[in-house]
Formats: sequence, structure tokens, C-alpha cells
Amino acid sequence: MLRLREDNPLEMLRQFSVYYDGDLIENLGAAKMSIDNEHGKGYVSLYELMPGLTAWVYNIEFTQNLVINMNFSEDRPYYFGYNVSGYQLQKFPNEPEHKKIRQGQNFIIVSEPNTSSEFIVPSNIAYKCCYIIINPKELAEGNIASKKRLLQELEANFDNKTSKHPYRYFGDIDTRIGTYASIIVENLRTDVVGRLITEGTVLRMLGSQLEAHQHDRNNEEFRPILSKSELSRITHVGDYVIERIADKFTIDDISLHLRISPKKLQSGIRFLYGYSANEYLTKLRLEHSRELMHSTEMNISEICLAVGYQSKSYFSKIFLDMYGFSPSVYKKRFEDANLLFDISYRSLAVDTTSGKDVDAIIKTARSLNPEFNITGCIIYHRNIFFQIIEGPKKDILTLFDNIKNDERHKDIKVMWKGYKIRREFKNWALATISDEGVLDVQIQGSAKSLELSNVLGKLDNSAIDSENLWRKVRNIIKIHTDNSAA
Ligand SMILES: Cc1cc2nc3c(=O)[nH]c(=O)nc-3n(C[C@H](O)[C@H](O)[C@H](O)COP(=O)(O)O)c2cc1C
Repeated sequence: MLRLREDNPLEMLRQFSVYYDGDLIENLGAAKMSIDNEHGKGYVSLYELMPGLTAWVYNIEFTQNLVINMNFSEDRPYYFGYNVSGYQLQKFPNEPEHKKIRQGQNFIIVSEPNTSSEFIVPSNIAYKCCYIIINPKELAEGNIASKKRLLQELEANFDNKTSKHPYRYFGDIDTRIGTYASIIVENLRTDVVGRLITEGTVLRMLGSQLEAHQHDRNNEEFRPILSKSELSRITHVGDYVIERIADKFTIDDISLHLRISPKKLQSGIRFLYGYSANEYLTKLRLEHSRELMHSTEMNISEICLAVGYQSKSYFSKIFLDMYGFSPSVYKKRFEDANLLFDISYRSLAVDTTSGKDVDAIIKTARSLNPEFNITGCIIYHRNIFFQIIEGPKKDILTLFDNIKNDERHKDIKVMWKGYKIRREFKNWALATISDEGVLDVQIQGSAKSLELSNVLGKLDNSAIDSENLWRKVRNIIKIHTDNSAA
């Protein structure tokens, strides 16, 4: 049984990936765990759409029942879900029997602090499901109109129903919600475009679920005005825009490119994302600007031009409307928060790199890294370098530029690049892997021996450079760093 406590969603997904020996890929605000092994085949992804609003997608077939025991936290999250394919069972602890949540059924659960719920996903069925989890406490933070509206709506709908016990609503089979849930489940992407597809659709799905709950009806067939193939073409608008985000272009340019009439384009975007085509373009530009703030050293004027705005004051105004902060305040908050930057990568030593060269690299790193407050660990194993570096963003980016230009290694693959809240290593140190597959590493300053034979043992020599393998190693290290810091 997998015991989960309602927690930071990424942590929960990480626990999943270690439990199932899965491959976890993280992007800004999104992550995906894939498995194709004796436990099953498929993926579970999550999208943190805004603080307090997370979507979980299951598109997976397990070889054994997945039993999750979810312990509810003080925050009283709401769970909205929809089974596109397959079913699951749910029960509260005081109930003798599980209830079945059927395929095509809309369900809502409102948790209650210090209680729990059991969920079972049966083995050997194609399970496709979308959950939206809302944490009202986190949603209440910040000053964004759409969040406030959502909160008011939730309170109006559920407040008096959940005084002591968790609340459960299993609605009817609902094809309208099903249309939205299928789009979410079938969206394989976790980049900016993928996230916006999910974000727009999640909000529509949520609206429909609330509506269905209010009226407790909705057997009517829902007929979208666009065909499936037209809708699928509309999901490509985001790619078109991102590719030329610094340029000026019109809705007509997009419709010409996608071979779809401007009218259908407009209504399709409204159907999928819930806002007009122009609003959607703005959203893509602004989201991209945030990504640039997070991952580059560009200043606001440069970012403004890079996402296609000529006027900095106009850019500032719409950014403020969308996120509740001006771009400079947003960027400064980020920097003032003293957040740490983390880059994890793996690379291959070139043929001429000798043991002496590796010693020299380690010597340099040992002497230079403390000067810049850079901590982390490096593994050198069978000609592979794997390194995690954490520290102030500017210094990490400068060091990584140096490392990228270093001719002693090649084929650098970045596993993760982004901010984190706390340091996971006290110093910078060499970690080693023994012949038996035990990783000796310093975590939070104390020596740990982590078992990797499970991950390494299955591989022949040719697969040792696989990115997936090193991503797993990173996750195993991360799980231990989180436990040590708790
Ligand atoms: C795999 C690998 C990892 C490295 N890690 C570090 C490191 O953590 N810190 C560091 O200062 N140099 C590291 N280096 C060495 C840098 O590439 C560079 O040689 C060093 O920072 C000295 O830079 P400089 O010649 O500009 O002074 C690494 C090199 C390689 C090939």
C-alpha cells in the first residue's frame, strides 16, 4: 500500500516514482512519471497551474492493484475527478465497503483534516483519469481575481456540507466533462504549451463539474461545434506562437497556417481554453516571460522584447493584471527570496580523459565551489559524470557555462534546472558508487549509503549512460535529502 500525506504535489509524485521505479521528468510547474516495467505501463503527470490548483493525470495500466491511503491535511483540499476510462474504488475509514467510481462518472470529494480516504485502482485495466486538487488556503493567497471567484464559488457550494466529515459526491455520467477530461488526459506535454492546454481545460472542467454538482443532472449530450480533428489542430496554436513569440502576427496568420477559418479558430480557442484568441496569445507571451525570468539573467526590457512587446509599460500593465505583481516586483521577489538555483546533469568523459584529469577536476571544484557558496555532489562512474550543483543563480549559471565548455567531457544532458527553496547539500563532495551498486554520498553533511543496485543491476553496460537511469539516481538522492531536512 502506498501511504501518502497531502503534501507538496511534486513530493507526492516523487514518492510514486520511487515506489514504482519510474522515470520522473520535471519542468517548471509540471512533472511526469512514466513506467514501463513489471509494475505496469503508462504515466502519471501533474500540473501546478497556480498555487493551490493542481491537476493530476493518470494514463496507466498497473499489474497489481494500486492501493493509496491518503491522509488529509489541515488545509481541507477539494478533489474533483473524472474517469475517462476504467474505474476506481473509494472508501472512508469508518465504511465497511468500497464505493465504485465508474467510467464516465464525475466525482467530488472534500477532505476533512486528520481523516483519510482509501483509493484502489484495479490492476489490468486501462486507467485514464483526471483529478483536480484545490487547496483553498493556498488559493486564497495573492490578489488574483479569478482565484477569488473560484474560492467564493467553492465556499458557496460546499461549506455547510463539510462540517465534521469528509464530503463525497458521485454524479452522473457526464459527456461534457468527459470531453474536457479526455483532452487533459491525452495531452502528453509538460512544457509551457502543454501546461496552457491543461490549464484552460482544467478550468472548463472544473466549471462543468461545479455546474453538474449544483444541478445534479446533466444527461444532455454535449455537442462541440468543432470536429475532433479541428480541435486537435487548435492545440497546435501554442507551438506556432512559441516558435515566433518575439514577432508580431495576427489571428489570420495563425488560421492560414493551421488551415482553419479565423471564426473556428476563435471559437475553438474559447472552447478549449475559456478565453478569446487574443487573451490566449497574451497568456502565452506572459507565461513565457515568467519562464525567462526564472531561468535566465535577462532584464525586464529584454524579456519584454523577447516575448513580443515593444512597449514596456504595456507589458507591465498586463503582467500586473494577470499575476497581481508588476514584472519588476515579481522578479525582485523571486531574487529577494534568496531562492537557490539547482542544475543536475550527466555527461560522458571523452576518450582522452584520464584518472588524473578527473582528480584535477575534483581538486578545482573543491577549491572553487566554496568561494561561491556552491554545494552539491558529483559522481564519476564508468566514464559518466553525474553532478548536482546548487547555489546562487548567477554563480550556478556561470559555473555551468564553464562546465559546458570544458573539453574533458561531452554530450551533456540536463536533468533538471530550476529554483529550489532550501539547500540539500552542506558542502560540495565526491560521491562514489561501489561495485555492489551502493552510492556513498554526503547529504545535509552526513554520510549516507544508498542502494542503487536495484536501478543499476538491471542494466547492461551499454545503458549506463541512459538519461532515465541518472534521473532515477537523482530522485533517489532527492528523496533522502527531503527526509533528512524534515
Ligand atoms: C564533469 C565536470 C565537472 C566540473 N565541475 C566543476 C565544479 O563543480 N566546480 C568548478 O569550479 N569546476 C568544475 N569543473 C571544471 C570547470 O569546467 C572549469 O575547468 C573550472 O571551473 C575552472 O574554470 P576557469 O578555467 O575559468 O578558472 C568541472 C568540469 C567537468 C568536466
